[in-house]
Amino acid sequence: MNIPIITIDGPSGAGKGTVSRAVAKQLGWHYLDSGSIYRALAICALDCSADLDNIKLLVTLATDMRLVFQCDDSLVVILDGVDITERLPTEEVGSTASKIAAYPDVRAVLLQKQKDFCQSPGLVADGRDMGTVVFTQAKTKVFLTASAMERAERRFKQLKEKGIDANLSQITKDIEARDKRDSERKTAPLIAAEDATTIDSSNLSIEEVIAAVMALT
Ligand code: DC
Repeated sequence: MNIPIITIDGPSGAGKGTVSRAVAKQLGWHYLDSGSIYRALAICALDCSADLDNIKLLVTLATDMRLVFQCDDSLVVILDGVDITERLPTEEVGSTASKIAAYPDVRAVLLQKQKDFCQSPGLVADGRDMGTVVFTQAKTKVFLTASAMERAERRFKQLKEKGIDANLSQITKDIEARDKRDSERKTAPLIAAEDATTIDSSNLSIEEVIAAVMALT
């Protein structure tokens, strides 16, 4: 049976998570936040002070980690029996994930874990290479982007709302560094699939982006 898939790829902070969850909810489909798989592996590596150049160790950690996703209104991620949801969004975890994600051997181990999410009645998958590598068969592919400045401002606002001290120019630098690493890596770089529709969310509300994606299905 052909399970319908919508892929939503793009740089960090473009709104992929919020949009993907909302679309999955409206359609009653499953949701894959592939970044959280890379982030979970980053947490494994950080917790055992792994040398991030030790590919063999990273591959072992990726193979052995047991991940459970509970998706309701929000996503809960359990790593080896421990709830790591609150640790996932930090910049340290994000940039470590981005470094680890550059290794083809690590990506190969995580590939099947992502494919396993493709279950009936359908899947909305968000990440960097959902449309170009993991689910090339998807009928609907979106590349969701926004300017680095806009994404930095959104992140800055989110942190302020949480009462976390933040520096806008540092956030912009972090975002640009991550974009560069994710786009320039040799394996599965961040790039729009040839058959993807690009949506620039810089001047759109979340509701407008959700409506634009729904109109493509
Ligand atoms: O989407 P995110 O910010 O949670 O992803 C964190 C990092 O994981 C991102 O900088 C690169 C990596 N990643 C990837 O290489 N491929 C994916 N499909 C998803 C994330």
